[in-house]
Amino acid sequence: MEKILVEKSPALKGKVRVSGAKNAALPILAACLLGTEDIYLEEVPNLKDVTIMCDVLESLGCKVERLGEGKLIINSASLNSYKTPFELMSKMRASFLVMGPLLARLGNTETSLPGGCSIGSRPIDYHLKGFRALGAEIEEDFGNIHASADKLVGSRIYLDFPSVGATENIMTAAVLAEGETIIDNAAMEPEIVDLSNFLRKLGANVSGAGTSTIRIKGVEKLKGARHSIIPDRIEAGTFMVAAAITGGDILVENVITNHMKPIMAKLVETGCQVIEEGENVRVIAAENPKAIDIKTLPYPGFPTDMQAQFMAYMTQCKGTNVAIETVFENRFMHVEELQKMGADIKIDGRSAIITGGKPLSGAKVKASDLRAGAALILAGLVSSGKTIISDIYHIDRGYEHIEDKFRGLGANITRIEVDED
Ligand code: EPZ
Repeated sequence: MEKILVEKSPALKGKVRVSGAKNAALPILAACLLGTEDIYLEEVPNLKDVTIMCDVLESLGCKVERLGEGKLIINSASLNSYKTPFELMSKMRASFLVMGPLLARLGNTETSLPGGCSIGSRPIDYHLKGFRALGAEIEEDFGNIHASADKLVGSRIYLDFPSVGATENIMTAAVLAEGETIIDNAAMEPEIVDLSNFLRKLGANVSGAGTSTIRIKGVEKLKGARHSIIPDRIEAGTFMVAAAITGGDILVENVITNHMKPIMAKLVETGCQVIEEGENVRVIAAENPKAIDIKTLPYPGFPTDMQAQFMAYMTQCKGTNVAIETVFENRFMHVEELQKMGADIKIDGRSAIITGGKPLSGAKVKASDLRAGAALILAGLVSSGKTIISDIYHIDRGYEHIEDKFRGLGANITRIEVDED
């Protein structure tokens, strides 16, 4: 059983390059199903989730040529199935993102209902509401879901919550539909904009991405394209927090600073220096970081995917810190693990109160999701003794060679093989 061993580390210093964004790569890979010509992708991160999405595309009959170093050529001319295999769907719920493109291309899509995960039930009602609005019939039985339509017709769709996945699935379902589709209260995340930019390169008519109203005018056919995935703002944020929590000085390279505003602002509030240098950001830690409050919100608010990492940092920010999680109903699974390390955290509904400034000590802990895993690494860097993290498959889903990147900054971190008992 692979685990990650983290020991107290010196202040992390040096530079680290951010990989392509997992949450942009996954919907863009799914959208490759829409065309019949070669699509050339660059900066695709080397992650378990990306591997699974490529396996899904191949299981549907597509050709995926892995050129290495983040380069892929995908051709969906030979698409011959609309059924996503259960075993792949069960490995990664984001496989659900192929439903929109399959509905658009084949008028049919069938998959097992994506399970929930530790952070929440993760329902898909907004996705299905969008498909129905475009004219699809939805049948659900025995945990399977089948959407079909002789023809998709553009419609106006209001999302009760600016769901990232639902926005993406409706965008991709609408690009070949007849007429115009308008998505109101659409998600505005940078990954939505990257998907829109990719679709426009394929010849789709999409406008408004990055605002709460996205308009898609259906076109007859799509062509091939070349696209480079945007950098991962969450990986970038994770390494910026690593500088802050260890009292370090790190240059994070390959960053779109406009995507990082809430993260940068909160680090400055604790007393860090955050210096923008073109496509890089330098973070110099505060001597005595000050307590702060964070509240997760849909973009451009503070990202829920950075809540766990910041909570690890808040354990070192002297005073009373508050973290409020408004996006997922159960995204405090890392609290219990941080408490095992000596963190003083109390949960009150959607709020966590962190009394910062107390020293942490290493412990055996468990990653409950990929961001919680990253938070435990961050806490381990400043804990006395050894921190052994299990269930690290979560971490590998979202971070490319995470321990190599941390070790390159001076961290005492290594992957170890531990037999169960
Ligand atoms: C995407 O998940 C990301 N995953 C998540 O990143 C991220 O945390 C999340 O957006 C929010 O930013 C990918 O992009 C692959 P949502 P998604 O639909 O699309 C509720 C990570 O760490 N909801 O915006 O599933 C839902 O339950 C992962 O990389 C419905 O109720 O998120 C949640 O409470 C974790 N019905 C809220 O909306 C629906 O039909 C936000 O979910 C859809 C969502």
